[in-house]
Amino acid sequence: MKTDPRFPRLHIVDHPLVQHKLSLMRDKRTSTRDFRELLSELALLMGYELTRDFPVALEEVETPVAHCWSPMLTGKKCVIVPVLRAGLGMSDALLTLMPSARVGHIGLYRDENHRPVEYLVKLPAQLEGRTFIVVDPMVATGYSGAHAVDVLKKRGVPGESIRFMALVAAPEGVEVFSKLHPDVDLYVASLDERLNENAYIVPGLGDAGDRIFGTK
Ligand code: URA
Repeated sequence: MKTDPRFPRLHIVDHPLVQHKLSLMRDKRTSTRDFRELLSELALLMGYELTRDFPVALEEVETPVAHCWSPMLTGKKCVIVPVLRAGLGMSDALLTLMPSARVGHIGLYRDENHRPVEYLVKLPAQLEGRTFIVVDPMVATGYSGAHAVDVLKKRGVPGESIRFMALVAAPEGVEVFSKLHPDVDLYVASLDERLNENAYIVPGLGDAGDRIFGTK
């Protein structure tokens, strides 16, 4: 895991498999089907890193050979929160890792000034004591991600219980996100160069939602 001195809560997952798959996703010739599959594989690999410090407790297990105490995940089920629509491309993979997780949805679109407008919030009834994994592949301006975290904090979720998983981030977006939420860990596969005049990440991978769903 790589870090950046500018952003103490940023974790860059620099595993060779992650970097290889991301390079394939960046290629504009990659088909919708392959893009979707790669995103899912990346979410699995990144999810493995992001959950590395999840608490475990020893439980009694009878193997066919002997009795033993063996570590099992403990505490309340975590909540996966895809930011619609591109976050959906990563949430199923996390559910594969943690099939009992709950799933919330936050729907945002970008207005003409690239600012997030909320159109849907659907979360589990019991939020207390749970860890939240917010997923959205691109941290561009940082405002959508920050808004999604705001939605959770306004409902009483502490920043320490929220982790944000993205694929690619622009430094401008990480700056905004980290200023607004200095208590939230952000996991990405790459910190790219910059934003362009249309608030797209350079070099990035284009519009993640369009590439996942085959839209224009
Ligand atoms: N959203 C995307 O899907 N891609 C970008 O580069 C920026 C925002």
